[in-house]
Amino acid sequence: MGKIDFQKTGFATRLIHEKKEISPARNAIGTPIYLAATFGVDSIQQMDDIKDGKEQGFLYSRMGNPTTKVLEDKLAALEGGEAAICTASGMGAVGSVLIGLLQSGDHVVAADAVYGGTDYALRCNLPLFGIQVSFVDICNPAEVEAAITDKTKLIYFETPVNPNMRIADIKAIADIGKRRGVKVAVDSTFAPPPIQYPLQLGADIVIHSTTKYLNGHGDVIAGAVISSLENITRFKYHASAMICGSPTNPFTSYMILRGLKTLHLRLERHCQNAMALAKFLETSEYVDRVFYPGLESHPQHETAKKQMRDGMYGGMLSFSLKEGIRGQTARQAVDTFLKNLTIPTLAPSLADADTLILHPATMSHRDVPAEAKRKAGITDGMLRVSVGLEYIEDIIADFRQALEKI
Ligand SMILES: Cc1ncc(COP(=O)(O)O)c(C=O)c1O
Repeated sequence: MGKIDFQKTGFATRLIHEKKEISPARNAIGTPIYLAATFGVDSIQQMDDIKDGKEQGFLYSRMGNPTTKVLEDKLAALEGGEAAICTASGMGAVGSVLIGLLQSGDHVVAADAVYGGTDYALRCNLPLFGIQVSFVDICNPAEVEAAITDKTKLIYFETPVNPNMRIADIKAIADIGKRRGVKVAVDSTFAPPPIQYPLQLGADIVIHSTTKYLNGHGDVIAGAVISSLENITRFKYHASAMICGSPTNPFTSYMILRGLKTLHLRLERHCQNAMALAKFLETSEYVDRVFYPGLESHPQHETAKKQMRDGMYGGMLSFSLKEGIRGQTARQAVDTFLKNLTIPTLAPSLADADTLILHPATMSHRDVPAEAKRKAGITDGMLRVSVGLEYIEDIIADFRQALEKI
């Protein structure tokens, strides 16, 4: 395409077109934010070359954006995958995998406990597309294998599981997937690198709600999928860039790139604080059970020790209050406890610097059917804590005084 001679154009044309091309900002510490919706090309041939991957470049930000590409490449490298796509939310990532991979007549083997939104997608949305789902105890690989049929295309689970903190053996399930020709997707939101690496353990697909630890500051909603280039291309063209049209926006990508710089420091502290709070809760006379994979009392502690690295078990824990404390039902005890807590915020998210607390039965897992809740151990007395970065003695003191006031 030719160049405009600005000596000959009017003010409105100059306002729109006149600009100095910035030389590549190679030394910028923060990744530049490209808010452009579209990118010009010199010729139709060049557009074809970019589309075919013969030339690096961008055409339209729904299909690819320079800022988001930096994030995608970084996440692929961190997880040890070939490629990644970043989506508008964690559910966008979950949906991109489900819609991108499956078609009418297919079957999925899914964990009987997952994040409430994912549970809804599996239980209520997929059947509308003629896709059947069998729900299994994901901690029991034999049950997973037994549920596979000749129509099964995907095994889907989280580990640690939201909200009961159960641990699935990624390698054992990935081995089953390989043997039976079924893809394995792991939502690793609760334990991002450097805690666990599902692809290295044989999984095909890793999902993150990047809203959570990867960003880490509670100020964006976004998601990501990491896998082979072939899978990612499929998720993109069959789902995220097309029917769902839901990329991470460039400003959000920048925020996550910024958050990632301190991921390991934040995680170290989240893990230390969570372990200390879990140990304290185990000693409390008001607490029935504590679910934290780092505790020796956790039913899958040995699996956690094997696949979660360097003694890091994440910043998430759950616990249940005893029934009948001073004549109160578990739900009344929860209400009294929450009323007296001062540091945590009662809020439906996790992985922020701030400690967040949530009542799964009425919040994140509200729409999960009662029987499924029972199987997942989501009781009226259960609370989920995203342990923040505050001074741990303050968090423990706050939990202690609120427990004593039940
Ligand atoms: C394990 C897990 N996966 C996916 C999601 C969905 O993420 P988002 O809220 O970013 O859509 C959540 C949300 O809490 C989650 O906990």
